[in-house]
Amino acid sequence: MSQKKVIAVVGATGAQGGGLVRAIHADRQGAYVARAITRKLNSEKAKALTQLGVEVVAADADDPPSLERAFAGAYGAFCVTNFWEHFSAEREGAQAAAMARATRKASVQHVIWSTLEDTRKTVPLDDGRLPTLQGKYKVPHFDSKAAVDHVFAEEAAPTTYLLAAFYWENFIYFGMGPRKAPDGDLVLALPLGGVKLPGIAAEDIGKCAYGLFRRGAGTVGQRFGVAGEVLSGPEMAGKMGRALGRKVVFNDVPFDVYRGLGFPGAEDLGNMFQFQAILGDEFLRSRDPERSRALNPELLSFDAWLSANSGRIPIG
Ligand SMILES: NC(=O)c1ccc[n+]([C@@H]2O[C@H](COP(=O)([O-])OP(=O)(O)OC[C@H]3O[C@@H](n4cnc5c(N)ncnc54)[C@H](OP(=O)(O)O)[C@@H]3O)[C@@H](O)[C@H]2O)c1
Repeated sequence: MSQKKVIAVVGATGAQGGGLVRAIHADRQGAYVARAITRKLNSEKAKALTQLGVEVVAADADDPPSLERAFAGAYGAFCVTNFWEHFSAEREGAQAAAMARATRKASVQHVIWSTLEDTRKTVPLDDGRLPTLQGKYKVPHFDSKAAVDHVFAEEAAPTTYLLAAFYWENFIYFGMGPRKAPDGDLVLALPLGGVKLPGIAAEDIGKCAYGLFRRGAGTVGQRFGVAGEVLSGPEMAGKMGRALGRKVVFNDVPFDVYRGLGFPGAEDLGNMFQFQAILGDEFLRSRDPERSRALNPELLSFDAWLSANSGRIPIG
């Protein structure tokens, strides 16, 4: 019988959890084995994990007893929520709190919670620079995660806090890729307010989480922001252009214009980018590529990510 310690992974069919499952699975000599958690055992992504030889179990973050069952017997648990599936800060908070409590009920020994900053500590609700959203948030998908940190600290098993950076995959899947300008050049448009953006290959987030599980109890209570590289808008456009073999120019979109674009989540993301600009160097320091590389020696630079992925970037 396997003596390996089980790490139960929420979001195993997604970017963060999937990277962690694959990192654990790739380390055949390692001390851990992954248990993938999904709501949909019959999805293509779940079936692919089963075919890889990973244990796949069903649970739903909206159904707390199902989480307890999925965490039972596990040494570790990776907890992530997906705000973008429902856009509700309240629901995200309830899902995360359910995960936190289930880890303690299941006697898990080490939890990693994928959280983000409480932007209201920097920009209080009465600060008009950012419009207040969903009644009590400045950046709902950040604040709702941060609001549950204390539940992890007080009611969960021992927890380490992981803060992801902007996924470079947003250029592929999230509609943030370059668009054709009338003159034929490509334009990469993001509202950065002149500051640099920490970014990361999504697969590296799970690899960093694996590094934290390997470090173990010594990381409990600590916060680890992860990034592959910190680049300005023109630097990203230049690298993207070289990878695509086309000129790409950067357009630093005003925050108000971005918030008004009308797509679901535009105000939230506009506030997020402006929050990052307001926090400035402190935000950059919170996601340090060297500290991330110490967790994950395979950490990709943007050039390395582009050389593997530029062919997948849709040109709008
Ligand atoms: N995109 C970025 O640049 C970025 C940067 C930092 C942080 N984030 C954060 O990353 C989070 C999303 O993580 P991701 O990108 O890894 O997700 P993802 O690739 O979109 O996949 C979502 C995962 O969550 C699982 N899931 C969703 N609802 C669930 C529920 N009720 N119960 C159990 N599992 C559930 C899904 O599993 P099944 O469908 O198989 O059940 C799937 O594995 C968001 O909250 C976002 O704020 C994103």
